[in-house]
Order: sequence, then C-alpha cells, then structure tokens
Amino acid sequence: MMFMKTKYQNILAKLTLAVVILSVFSCKEKDGLAPEYMPDMYRSPSIEPYVDYGDLKDRTNVELTNKMSARTPVEGTIPRGFSPYEYKNDAEGYELAGANLKNPIQYDDNIGKEGKELYGMFCVHCHGKTGQGDGTIVEREKFPPLPVKFKEGLAISEGKMFHTITYGKGLMGSHASQLNKEERWKLVHYIRTEFMKENPNKVIEEVVASDETIQE
Ligand code: HEC
Repeated sequence: MMFMKTKYQNILAKLTLAVVILSVFSCKEKDGLAPEYMPDMYRSPSIEPYVDYGDLKDRTNVELTNKMSARTPVEGTIPRGFSPYEYKNDAEGYELAGANLKNPIQYDDNIGKEGKELYGMFCVHCHGKTGQGDGTIVEREKFPPLPVKFKEGLAISEGKMFHTITYGKGLMGSHASQLNKEERWKLVHYIRTEFMKENPNKVIEEVVASDETIQE
C-alpha cells in the first residue's frame, strides 16, 4: 500500500507540473499580452472618457487606437457660452483694460441685488460687508489687511476692476473660473454703486458714449 500511494503521488505531481507548464507557455496572445480570463472584465464594452480600452487590444490598427471618446478640442475651441477676454494678464493688459473697458450691463435694481448676492458669496470674507477690507478672514487675522478700500472717489476704473476680478491681483486670486463675465460686471456695478456711491445712471451714460465712439 505504501508503494502504491507514493506512485500515485508521483504521477499527480508530474501531471500538476505539466498543467502548470502548459498554462504558462501555451496561451500567449499577439503582442506578448498575457492570456485574459473573461476579457470583458478588462475591456468593458462601455465607452470610457478619453480612452477606449476595448479597442486598444489591436494596437497596430490606427483606426481603432485613434478612437478616443473625448478628444482634445481643435485649437481655438471655446466652451459654449464663453467669450474670450482679450487683455493679457500683465501690467500693460491691466492699463489697457482700464482705459478701454466699460460695463456693458445696464444697471437697475435687480442687477444691484444680484451683485450683492454674488458679493456675499465670493468677496465678503475678504472685502467685508462695508467694502473696507473688514471681512471675517481679515478680522480673524487669517489674511493680511487689504490694501484697497471701496469708497467714494476711489481711483480705480471699472475696466481695471473687471480685469482684477478676472485675473486676480496681488494676494487676490482669479475669479474667472467661478464667475462668468456677466457676473463679474454685476459685481463691478455693485461695488461702484454700493460702496463708491457712484450714480449708476452715470455709468449708463458712459456706456452709451463709448458705444457711440465705437460706431464712428
Ligand atoms: C482672499 C481675499 C479676497 C477675495 C476673496 C476677494 N478679494 Fe478682491 N482684493 C483682495 C486683495 C488683497 C486686493 C488688493 C490687490 C492688490 O492691489 O494687491 C483686492 C483688490 C480688489 C479690487 C481692486 C482692484 C484693483 O485693480 O486694484 C477689486 C475691485 C476687488 N478686489 C474686487 C473683488 C471682488 C468683486 C471679489 C469677489 C468676486 C473679490 N475682490 C474677492 C483680496 C480678495
């Protein structure tokens, strides 16, 4: 009996070895890829953003490998509803924007309200409820005192303000990703009417005047 057992064990060991060797060497796929058990689990038939795993199996077929589900947009492509801002983020761009840009939005009470709401969401923690730089993070000394106070006669043109909200300035960051152009202009209106006590109708006159100059 002893003899029989070892004999069987011997055969079993040899068989196992053969199976192992077979499985290691037999099923190599093209391109040296390892064999895939249930390929659907690796190569999902669903469309993946930026890469189609399913098609990459045949790497030599350009038609397949070039089939990304989301491609890099053509140069110059802009998102829907976005309009480019032509002034550069440098000192010259700041001066040019200051000289040329006028608020394209007509002021009315609703614009004022919307501006106030936006200010409360994006600006008040630094610039403060009164616009004097008395925001909570400044008062709690988490942010250095602001070098700018919004008050009557402040000599910063609306174009410069828009430029600053767009790109940021000094320690203030850019708000272009959070606020679209219209919202940024509403904020300019709000700051100028609420804190700088400017007559919003004067702003409208300026816009009309600048439109006329463009048409001439
Ligand atoms: C993290 C704090 C912080 C937040 C938030 C912030 N600002 Fe400022 N802001 C500053 C600082 C600091 C300056 C001064 C920049 C400088 O001149 O160095 C400044 C300057 C300005 C100026 C003067 C621009 C100029 O050309 O000199 C305007 C206008 C302004 N901010 C508007 C806004 C508006 C509108 C928001 C909200 C969308 C906002 N800020 C949010 C910190 C902030």
